[in-house]
Amino acid sequence: MTKVLVATVKPFAPAAVEEIKKVFAKADYTCSFFEKYNNQDELVSAVSDADAMIVRSDKITPEVIQAAGNLKIVVRAGAGFDNVNLEAATANNVVVMNTPGQNSNAVAELAIGMMVYQARNHFNGSSGTELKGKKLGIHAFGNVGKLVARIATGFGMDVFAFDPFIQRSEMEAEGVRVFESTEELYAHCDYVSLHIPANKHTLQSINYKLLSKMKAGACLVNTARKEVIHEEGLVKVFEENPSFKYVSDIAPDNKGLLTKRFADRCFFTPKKMGAQTAEANINAGIAAAQQIIAFIESGDTTFKVN
Ligand code: 3PG
Repeated sequence: MTKVLVATVKPFAPAAVEEIKKVFAKADYTCSFFEKYNNQDELVSAVSDADAMIVRSDKITPEVIQAAGNLKIVVRAGAGFDNVNLEAATANNVVVMNTPGQNSNAVAELAIGMMVYQARNHFNGSSGTELKGKKLGIHAFGNVGKLVARIATGFGMDVFAFDPFIQRSEMEAEGVRVFESTEELYAHCDYVSLHIPANKHTLQSINYKLLSKMKAGACLVNTARKEVIHEEGLVKVFEENPSFKYVSDIAPDNKGLLTKRFADRCFFTPKKMGAQTAEANINAGIAAAQQIIAFIESGDTTFKVN
């Protein structure tokens, strides 16, 4: 019998757990949930007899993969797979997949929610500003970026985008005006919402050179990854642009310094929560379960990333 381990240090919503169980029960697979574990050693011990795994941002290191002698597939229930060591997976004949698009709406709603929160001065009761009429730059027009654009349009924002990997016509069809460079996007917009993945090309790419182009009062919104930000450059921009703002779903390493020095100009969620909705968990969890079954039963490698 195929054994699936759902290893989520940040558990899925209970409704999603029930749905995942149903999918595997129907296929006659055994499925166990390993949630809220304390450290990597516990994860390494838990994977020994797993044929397949579903994970979220859980770190799938070479040690985890080597400890899972039966492992054939890992599905990251979500978009970003920077938490999975692809080289180790490939070297051990383990297929890695993600579930693109399944949690995008939750992340997009959070991005807009954080913009409102910052525009209204952290809901402290003082007079804030509105999003209507402001210019929003979408940095990367994938599943999340596209949804942010749609919601922002509903708010009456003017939406712009930069994405060298998406056809200009596709972005324009969404009513978005396209820039040819990040520099233009950052210089032009009141808000910039980040939707780039974390990889060797993007690490620390949001740096002083780029952020210093942002206007007085501009706000950077990060629901992507903290690793794409050059944190020293970010501090310098906070110092030089006295009304620059930064809101992020992923607290930076220098969170303490930023919240101490620029308390009213930054906000960080206590825990990464972009995809923390029942709907996103159900969508991504069911998709991950179905992808595992399709792969094991018929070798379907749709959404394989390694
Ligand atoms: C993603 O890449 O899909 C999001 O960052 C969600 O991550 P999470 O599943 O750890 O909440």
